Order: sequence, then C-alpha cells, then structure tokens
Amino acid sequence: MTKTHPRAGVIGWPVAHSRSPIIHRSWLDAYGIDGSYDLIPVPPQEIASFLANFADSGFVGANVTLPHKEAAFAAVGERCDPAARALGAVNTIWLEDGLLYGANTDVTGFLANLDTSAPGWDRDAGPALVLGAGGAARAIVHGLASRGFAPIHVVNRTEEKAEAVAAQFPGVARAAAWSNIALLVPTARIIVNTTSLGMKGQPDLVIDLSRARPDAVVSDTVYVPLETPLLREARRNGLVAVDGLGMLLHQAVPGFARWFGVTPKVTPELRDLILSDL
Ligand code: ATR
Repeated sequence: MTKTHPRAGVIGWPVAHSRSPIIHRSWLDAYGIDGSYDLIPVPPQEIASFLANFADSGFVGANVTLPHKEAAFAAVGERCDPAARALGAVNTIWLEDGLLYGANTDVTGFLANLDTSAPGWDRDAGPALVLGAGGAARAIVHGLASRGFAPIHVVNRTEEKAEAVAAQFPGVARAAAWSNIALLVPTARIIVNTTSLGMKGQPDLVIDLSRARPDAVVSDTVYVPLETPLLREARRNGLVAVDGLGMLLHQAVPGFARWFGVTPKVTPELRDLILSDL
C-alpha cells in the first residue's frame, strides 16, 4: 500500500441505508488500519463523470450499489473479473496505476457464505431452484452454474423476467411459472430465495418443504429478519438452512483486501455487530 490513510466507500443513490460502512469500519478497527470508509452519494446523472474521474477523487476504491452497478461495469470496460463480465454489473472497484478495475463479489460472497456455513453443499450438485429474477438472482445463478448445478430452475412472479435470466445461461437455467414451485421443490438439491418476500414489512414466503429432498440446502438472501419464514420451514423439516447475512459480509471481503491490503475475516463478532444494528 503506497497511500497514507487510504479512503474507500460505497457509491449509491440513495446510499444512506447501506450497511457497508459498519462492516468496513469494524474491519479497519480490528486490523488497526489508518483508513476510512464513507458513504458516497452520487446521483444517476453524475455517475459516468464521477467514475471517469475516479482517479482524482481521493478514493483508492469503492463498493458500488444500486442503481450504479451497470454504470460501473461500463466504466471499467474490459478490466473486470469473469463474474462481472457475465453479469454486466460491477459492485467493487479499485485503482491500479491510475486505471479503474472492477469485480462482482456478489457471486463469490454467495459461494463463500455457503462454503463456510454449509460445507459440502455443492457435493453431488444437482437441480437448483432459484426464486426471483433481479440482480441477485443473476449473480446466484452464475455462482450455482460455476459449481455444476443443473438444471437451475428460475421462478419469478413476473415470468418474463425469469425467462430473461434463463436466456442468459443457455443450457443450464430454465424459467418456470411461480405455480410450479411445489413441483420443483422435491427435485432441488438447493433452494435459494432472492425475492424480497419474507423481509420485514413484506409478505411471508410460504413454501411447503415437507417434500424436499433430505439433502436439500435452503438459502435466503433476506437477512432482516435473520430467521425468515422460509428458513424456519427448512429447519422444521430438518434441512440445512443458510441465512442471508453471511452473503452480505462475505461479498465485502475482496474489496477490503484490495483497498487496505489485509484479507479480513468474517467472524461471529462481526455478525453480532451487524445484527445489533438491524
Ligand atoms: P434484486 O436486484 O435485489 O434481486 P429486484 O430486482 O428488486 O432486487 O428483485 C426483487 C425480486 O423480488 C423480483 O424477482 C420480484 O418479482 P417481480 O420481478 O415479479 O417484481 C420479487 N418480488 C417482490 N415482491 C414480490 C411478491 N410480493 N411476490 C413475489 N415476488 C416478489
């Protein structure tokens, strides 16, 4: 690291709700690093020029959140990792020799969370069931495909969006109607919710898992509350249940390592700290 007091942050609009500052500041503290991590609100009409001049911004890098992940992908051009290229979205940027680089760590965050919380989850990878068809669903389908899951059934309230996601992963992903969930549950080695159902203030996600495979892993991207109705149903049926907080924490690791030169650990203490803020 050549810079004294390296500064990073999270670029978004709005961005005040982001939990990233708590995560990164807690790591800065834990590793005794003299750096900072700030909220960087940038309105949509300014994002292209902000990123084009990022080398002069005083930041060594940043996370990028909604609605700027596609703009960040455009700004880094070819200088991105395969996940970002496949998804057309960048959520982590950094400077190298004055040039802007990018990655999509939602994919590695999702995979690292399962590797840590449910070791062996991808052994005998088989059919998968992904609920939802937004940005998180794309990242997760990409991650599941990279571990050999197939077919990956994508189910969404608005079926056309599921079809658009499936079309991005030809031969691996298949769109299905929401009404097919009951039919698909018994085949799935992994079931992942990427919709907002089950989130505090949203309707519950009600799925009967009594006919799920005994080796099914059930994962939720919702983390408020931590114990969603879906995960409760999974545990009630003796299935492995993985909450969404781990994905949030693990997706933050690669950025911190790039900007501050230390690969941080996702610890139970960090989980507790975030939980106390939810
Ligand atoms: P993200 O980028 O985080 O994945 P998103 O693009 O807003 O978020 O996607 C939210 C997902 O939750 C969508 O799949 C949405 O379904 P639609 O595409 O039909 O809108 C899903 N979702 C939100 N509310 C829902 C509800 N009440 N019932 C079923 N699905 C819902």
